[in-house]
Amino acid sequence: MWPSLAWKGQSLTLIDQRLLPHQEIYTECRTGEEVAQAIEKMVIRGAPAIGVAAAYGVVLAIQKSEDKKSLQGNFECIISRLKQTRPTARNLFWALERMEQTFKAYYSRSVQEIIHRLEEEAQLIEKEDVETNRQLGDHGASLIPAGSTVLTHCNAGALATAGYGTALGVVRTAFAQGKIERVYACETRPFLQGARLTCWELAKENIPVILITDNMAGWLMKQGKISLVITGADRIAGNGDAANKIGTYSLAVLAREHHLPFYVAAPLSTFDFSLRTGQEIPIEERDPREVRELNGQLISLKDIPVENPAFDVTPASYITAIISERGVAYPPYSESLPAWSKRGSCP
Ligand code: MRU
Repeated sequence: MWPSLAWKGQSLTLIDQRLLPHQEIYTECRTGEEVAQAIEKMVIRGAPAIGVAAAYGVVLAIQKSEDKKSLQGNFECIISRLKQTRPTARNLFWALERMEQTFKAYYSRSVQEIIHRLEEEAQLIEKEDVETNRQLGDHGASLIPAGSTVLTHCNAGALATAGYGTALGVVRTAFAQGKIERVYACETRPFLQGARLTCWELAKENIPVILITDNMAGWLMKQGKISLVITGADRIAGNGDAANKIGTYSLAVLAREHHLPFYVAAPLSTFDFSLRTGQEIPIEERDPREVRELNGQLISLKDIPVENPAFDVTPASYITAIISERGVAYPPYSESLPAWSKRGSCP
């Protein structure tokens, strides 16, 4: 497994995910602002991974504070900066809220102790993410029958988390149990997380993977080549509606048409019980050049109008089951999810 990030005490090392799979280049963030820019530019991406990175970004931004006043100023400044980086993934806000609670809890202590406690909290967020992914992997693998061929979208693997992965965590565990024959990875236009990252991760572990373009999924389902679909999520509303990478909704509709199970795997840090439905989930709109260009090469008219929503919302009615570290929830989600809500936002 290849961790997306490594904390070095005075800096945060990130593998530059924009350059994979051809170059494995590591970059050092030494300030909170550098972490914010890394999240915006997708050096690091994936809902849980950006939450963990943001927590370390807070530590970098406050580390050199000399007195309470500058500590408070630096803290407030970086929290608000990081909250502006990407709007959709709940995990980012969840991690920053944990840092805010820790700051509040230790505010009466010395500057050095507050910094130390915040560093500990960021490390805990990272450690817990790997643990929850492994638990989620065990729960999810129990749903996978032997001999399965699994379709996944985007990258919900070790790179998208602090390690192991959510949807790919389920795949890893089920593969180790001998249940998975092969994985189909959708390329995931426009940013190609499937082609670049999921294929790279699975190939490194010798998990058989076949790359397809996004528009091939329906035909493969029709031919009986796919047993089930599993994806991650960026934010799940209280009723089970799930935001994930653009194209996920289309796969859920296709899975329904072909009578295939459609599973969503996500830790509780992805759930937003303050939202009643998925309609309230903010959807990030990204740079039009991502659609007009491929690998920096213009593939259409240079000023053609473009829409580029980075995520879509799959209605709960299309989701066969939702997997978290707490187990497996089935519809109706308005009845099954509230049991998870107590630990949903913050510890
Ligand atoms: O834009 P990205 O690459 O950050 O989007 C990532 C996804 O949509 C993932 O599927 C999601 O974050 C789950 S990752 C465990």
